[in-house]
Amino acid sequence: MSCRRDAGVYNRGMEQDIDRTLYTREQIDRRVTELGAQIADTYRGVSADLVIVPVLTGSIIFVADLIRHLPFKMRIGLMTVSRYRGATTEGGATQILRDLTVDIKDRHVLVVDDILDTGNTLRTVSEQLRERGPASLRLCTLLRKPSKAPKDLVADFVGFDIEDVFVVGYGLDFNDHYRNWPDLSVLRPELYE
Ligand code: IMP
Ligand code: MG
Repeated sequence: MSCRRDAGVYNRGMEQDIDRTLYTREQIDRRVTELGAQIADTYRGVSADLVIVPVLTGSIIFVADLIRHLPFKMRIGLMTVSRYRGATTEGGATQILRDLTVDIKDRHVLVVDDILDTGNTLRTVSEQLRERGPASLRLCTLLRKPSKAPKDLVADFVGFDIEDVFVVGYGLDFNDHYRNWPDLSVLRPELYE
């Protein structure tokens, strides 16, 4: 069976829910390449002790692309965190649903998330990880909403600063849908308001 990629078939069920696109897949690709180079520079020399900690589920596509720009030995330790129960950006405490199985003591840790919104997720994750005695702890986020992100939570690597809109695609979801949408796009507000 052939795989048809014309928009009507390929994007059925998603395209009509998208309001506008903030960054196309080509723009994302260029930015992820730049971030990869910046991160590679930072950890050159200590990379064998580097543990990348992707915050699941939203970071899956970003981290898969990013790590292929890191041309050295490193480890990955997955962490699953959830703050939302089907809603958009408000409410709910951060819960660690699945913890790391990799030891981070005296190792360099880079936490990778999809978006820094209120900062609750990255704050919870970094507080927990810092207690385990890593050699260093840095944060990387694909997107950041500067209007909401607290000033004391510093992300060391940021893909794009965006306005306060609800974004889907490239790993980001609404109600667990749209993670496979290839661009970073804004959902039609009537779908979640
Ligand atoms: P924070 O804890 O408020 O910083 O939110 C971070 C988490 O909320 C992210 O890891 C996302 O999973 C989710 N989130 C926040 N804003 C958005 C958005 O615009 N689209 C999709 N998910 C979002
Ligand atoms: Mg997330």
